[in-house]
Amino acid sequence: ADNDLLGICTYLVEVVKEAGSIILTAQPTSLTVTTKRNTADIVTETDQAVEGFICERLTKRYPTFAFIGEESYKAGVAITDRPTFIVDPIDGTSNFVHAFPAVCISIGLVIGKQPTVGVVYNPFREELWSAVKGHGAFTLRPNGEMQKLPLVSAPLQGLRPACIGIEWGSDREGPNFELNLKVFTTLARTAATGGRFVNSLRCIGSAAIAICRVAAGQQDAFWECGSWAWDVAAAWCILAEAGGIMVDGHPGEWHPPIDNRRYLAVRPATRGQREFVEEFWSVIGDDRST
Ligand code: IPD
Repeated sequence: ADNDLLGICTYLVEVVKEAGSIILTAQPTSLTVTTKRNTADIVTETDQAVEGFICERLTKRYPTFAFIGEESYKAGVAITDRPTFIVDPIDGTSNFVHAFPAVCISIGLVIGKQPTVGVVYNPFREELWSAVKGHGAFTLRPNGEMQKLPLVSAPLQGLRPACIGIEWGSDREGPNFELNLKVFTTLARTAATGGRFVNSLRCIGSAAIAICRVAAGQQDAFWECGSWAWDVAAAWCILAEAGGIMVDGHPGEWHPPIDNRRYLAVRPATRGQREFVEEFWSVIGDDRST
């Protein structure tokens, strides 16, 4: 039963919906917000409660699988070849404390370091994205039916007409922050001066939701340097199953450490994905080796 990937996905959908109701009952005004490293890096007791709930559900049902969660993660833990659930109980914690409804629960199952099952759920909007490797990616329509992704797969026309989702991470210094700044200012300046390179930049505050939007084809690409495995594990599977590509230092699988990674996601397209990646790096002027 442990290898029944479709069954696992169905179970994960049940779990995220239950976890979603915990999030919905929390009142942002009465939240205890704890700062981790700086004002941008925060956690609430709801993050911890939701992770505890998900961890209990998953480890009881799949006792042989490993579990990595944002709130219980200890530096030095690595992703191994073992089936591993990688969980962000609340992706978009800053949105959550501001009652900005781009918040999700993200559960990925990684097998042999490959994103294999992914479920992302935004309880505030009842938005759900899911995928199982080899079985396609889907999103929930307002009428309750699951719709196959992508919704848009027209050829990519390069950076110039592109709408790009960018996340900042919570670093406010160091190489990840500097690279994010460089990507943002390079693209933003050109967007502001007549769209020489990009049409628009979007920063929604949840990497998982942003990548799911790329999977759907609703944004052309996503960029972040410094995403953690729990921000991307589920959405990566959804993106890949929809026909999008994730480009980073180690395409397709993770190697330790699981942090400080750069991610460029490109939407499904009948052509132009690789050219898009080449153009992106030539404009940013950085190498891709780390
Ligand atoms: C964060 C969000 C944010 C991204 C950060 C993540 P969290 O997740 O996805 O958009 O920029 O890198 O850590 O802390 O809200 O779970």
